[in-house]
Amino acid sequence: MIQAVEAKGFRIPIVGLGTWTLGGRDCARLVEQAIRIGYRHIDSAQMYGNEREVGEGVRASGLRDEVMVTTKIQPTLLAPRDLERSVKESLAQLRLDVIDLLLIHWPNPRVPLSETLGAMAKMKRAGYARAIGVSNFTVALLDEANKVTSEPLVCNQVECHPYLDQDKVIAACRKVGMAVVAYSPIARGNAKGDKLLEKIGKAHGKTAAQTCLRWLTQQGIVVIPRTSKIERLKENFSILDFDLSDAEMREIAGLASRGGRIVDWTWSPKWD
Ligand SMILES: NC(=O)c1ccc[n+]([C@@H]2O[C@H](COP(=O)([O-])OP(=O)(O)OC[C@H]3O[C@@H](n4cnc5c(N)ncnc54)[C@H](OP(=O)(O)O)[C@@H]3O)[C@@H](O)[C@H]2O)c1
Repeated sequence: MIQAVEAKGFRIPIVGLGTWTLGGRDCARLVEQAIRIGYRHIDSAQMYGNEREVGEGVRASGLRDEVMVTTKIQPTLLAPRDLERSVKESLAQLRLDVIDLLLIHWPNPRVPLSETLGAMAKMKRAGYARAIGVSNFTVALLDEANKVTSEPLVCNQVECHPYLDQDKVIAACRKVGMAVVAYSPIARGNAKGDKLLEKIGKAHGKTAAQTCLRWLTQQGIVVIPRTSKIERLKENFSILDFDLSDAEMREIAGLASRGGRIVDWTWSPKWD
């Protein structure tokens, strides 16, 4: 059984497959193949437009009961009525029995958080989702969310890799027992050419990308690397069979810099 992070009684497999940009037959094939290799966590979102193919891949694997599937609600659909309709639509697209983990994709300041979380809790209690959580939440928003929610929030999915110092948000999650799920965990592929990651990886017989993912998982952070290449699925999954030393962990942490963020934090969709 693959290692998992437990948060408020909910188990999140520590290595998942990101699916942003994947679509069509290729997406279904990759998801099915990933599950065959051992992945037990697939990350999708309404915004990715691939819930249908993700569901197809999960069903084709024949291992649906073992796999945790995440989807995320579009920030423009966080008002209760829109949310309820969109979650039903997501489940219809996925054609699964339940959404395992349902997240707010991105906060929307125009909709009171208490209303969104109330609607998510209602959907959970009605059996549409097994667990709920958030994504792209700041420390202040996490605090507010945990105060108003009636159902436990199990994770915060945020950008996380060695080039970005996320210590504050990680500490805030830990304080309230939420798991951290790292998106863009290999910095959109940038880890590959990194000299330090290559050097440390070489000492363990691993690639730079594997070393980068191990740095996160060794801190108890869940990773969801994306690849469109079947041959890389195994590479990104084979990261739990070695340990980085304390000195190596510190050296990698030293890669963080002010300009390290990839996804524009100030990005916001057109709210109207
Ligand atoms: N919640 C949010 O707002 C949010 C935002 C961004 C992402 N996400 C989620 O997080 C997932 C991962 O993040 P991401 O897609 O931004 O970036 P990522 O996983 O860090 O990087 C993906 C890129 O790295 C390349 N790559 C994958 N494995 C590699 C390897 N072993 N060696 C070298 N290059 C490799 C891929 O190219 P190839 O396809 O050629 O392998 C792709 O271009 C997404 O797919 C999505 O599910 C969530």
